[in-house]
Amino acid sequence: MADYKRAYISQVSDFNNQKVCIKGWLQNKRSGGKLHFLQVRDGTGVIQAVIFKGDVPENVFENGDKVTQETSIEVYGEIREDKRSKLGYEIGVEDLKIVSDSIDYPITPKEHGVAFLLENRHLWLRSPKQRAIMKIRHELIKAIRDYFNNNNFMLVDAPIFTPAACEGTTNLFEVDYFDSKAYLTQSGQLYMEAAAMAFGKVYCFGPTFRAEKSKTRRHLTEFWMVEPEVAYNNHDDNMNLAEDFVVYIVEQILTNCRFELEILERDISKLENIKKPFPRITYDEAIDLLIKKGKDVNWGDDFGADEETVISESYDRPVLIHRYPAQSKAFYMKEDPVNNKLALCVDMIAPEGYGEMIGGGQREDNLDVLLSKIKQHNLPEEAFDWYLDLRKYGSVPHAGFGLGIERTVSWLCGLHHVRETIPFPRLMDRIKP
Ligand code: 4AD
Ligand code: MG
Repeated sequence: MADYKRAYISQVSDFNNQKVCIKGWLQNKRSGGKLHFLQVRDGTGVIQAVIFKGDVPENVFENGDKVTQETSIEVYGEIREDKRSKLGYEIGVEDLKIVSDSIDYPITPKEHGVAFLLENRHLWLRSPKQRAIMKIRHELIKAIRDYFNNNNFMLVDAPIFTPAACEGTTNLFEVDYFDSKAYLTQSGQLYMEAAAMAFGKVYCFGPTFRAEKSKTRRHLTEFWMVEPEVAYNNHDDNMNLAEDFVVYIVEQILTNCRFELEILERDISKLENIKKPFPRITYDEAIDLLIKKGKDVNWGDDFGADEETVISESYDRPVLIHRYPAQSKAFYMKEDPVNNKLALCVDMIAPEGYGEMIGGGQREDNLDVLLSKIKQHNLPEEAFDWYLDLRKYGSVPHAGFGLGIERTVSWLCGLHHVRETIPFPRLMDRIKP
């Protein structure tokens, strides 16, 4: 079919009144008398293909009869403006080739339960809403990389097999590693600290694993995290970085994903609010706020989803909560020099009840204090000897944080549960497909 140019649906505006070939799948179909209206998707968008009986050979019209949901097809025809459609264009079909049929596609256009859809995640990804989410995830990851790359951070990949726990021992995935044991990484942070001492400003981006034994709408057992770490940054520098970074990624999503946000019926005005400065409150202030709102909390408790939601309701943008009690936080956190019961750490809580999206802080840079913390937390000292070296050879103040991709996608997209924010979610009770 030499006169037809191969086109992707997202680019059809470049092909108005030209003959093109679109290769894709049938999403939906309406037929009446002498007309078939096919909704064709190719991964980049959806276009209506109109087959008029009078315009095409008999076998082409019959193919229009035959195609069922998710049949793979090649559509040949002319692009023309169609002001009524969302895309603004349709294709007047001249030829329709069936590549492969699709019989009894399980995800029919009617409503389905989430369990069924998760069972069929490999097919569910084809639906418009799932495409919109994955596209926003894609743009988010691009924005993240652009932000750090444009600000002179070096990308440093952290290992997945690790000899030691970073974020406590209760949710470690242990694996056989020849004659010994290893753990799947919970965070690349400790390695980024080494890298920051080598390269100054660094970040890693990769999958992390936690054997979360509770079923919540915010926890996956495998999730992706981006973790910047900066030598010579202190606690305030770290909060400024987190704020600047989040403003940037939201701007990028608003610029590049209007169409997808619309498909998801996201209230865009909520995202347009996300401007500097973000409110910053201490843990103590957060406790006061919670008590004022009638929550039963005790000083020293870490906040759960409930508390985070209540706090977020008081603000129209992300809120930074800092200086948590050291007792509830990881061993590597630097103590507040003003009050050693507090850690110089920060969590960023998303607005609208989407929960903690960032956790981080300034790191303990003093060898003796760090050693005593490792002992206090009952961690095996020998597993951390390399990490302690960083405090022996030119230790400096440094800080960083981790942003969870899925929590961020769920906030940006306005999704209640993180399970739809990752292509193939891993949950306590789900490892297939
Ligand atoms: O607060 P967390 O545990 O912080 C760390 O791991 C630090 N070592 C990061 C650092 O300072 N370099 O996790 C960071 C973020 C959370 O704020 C949340 O967004 C996400 O990771 N997260 C999860 N996302 C999905 N499922 C889970 N089970 C998650 N656990 C944490
Ligand atoms: Mg945290």
